[in-house]
Amino acid sequence: MTELQGFVIRKAEPPDISQIMQINLETLPENYPEYFFREIYDRYEKAFFVAETEGKVIGYIMCRMEGGVSNFGLRWIRRGHIVSIAVLPAFRRQGIASELVKNSMKALKTEYNAKEIILEVRVTNLAAIRLYDKLGFSRIRTLQAYYRNGENAQLMAYKFE
Ligand SMILES: CC(C)(COP(=O)(O)OP(=O)(O)OC[C@H]1O[C@@H](n2cnc3c(N)ncnc32)[C@H](O)[C@@H]1OP(=O)(O)O)[C@@H](O)C(=O)NCCC(=O)NCCS
Repeated sequence: MTELQGFVIRKAEPPDISQIMQINLETLPENYPEYFFREIYDRYEKAFFVAETEGKVIGYIMCRMEGGVSNFGLRWIRRGHIVSIAVLPAFRRQGIASELVKNSMKALKTEYNAKEIILEVRVTNLAAIRLYDKLGFSRIRTLQAYYRNGENAQLMAYKFE
């Protein structure tokens, strides 16, 4: 558990899922049915975190594990994948997303043995791209028409030493 000024970052729990789904609906165009959140929780709960203030969930991050070719060399590796992250607008720019990502990065490495972490982000989402830049992710390549509306994604990756 991490404490920021007035916020706590803690592991997600099943009763949080309805609030997480609400934040996802309010903040991102990629929305998922409840079973998707539950499945990720059931399989990768150690890398699933929420930010909370005064008993209210105001941000979340969820991740999964997968196999794939390294983005830093020709090897097959186990990697973490950041599936979704969001912070409610009223609570942004206070370091909450950074702490959420740092907690998941640590869990993906230590609990799931990830060698790298990847994520996709809209090329127009400069706030998120800067967040990942700052945390040491590399911009790997553009994925053409990755999103349903035809927008391109920036593939980003982080390699653990
Ligand atoms: C992207 C998002 C998660 C960032 O959350 P946050 O809690 O505000 O992020 P942080 O406070 O930890 O910001 C860390 C750094 O990211 C960058 N950043 C964050 N928001 C930014 C913005 N609006 N404009 C420019 N840079 C920004 C800055 O470098 C910032 O550091 P600084 O405040 O010291 O300058 C949040 O804006 C959000 O929920 N957006 C909608 C959902 C989304 O886009 N998710 C990502 C999909 S891949």
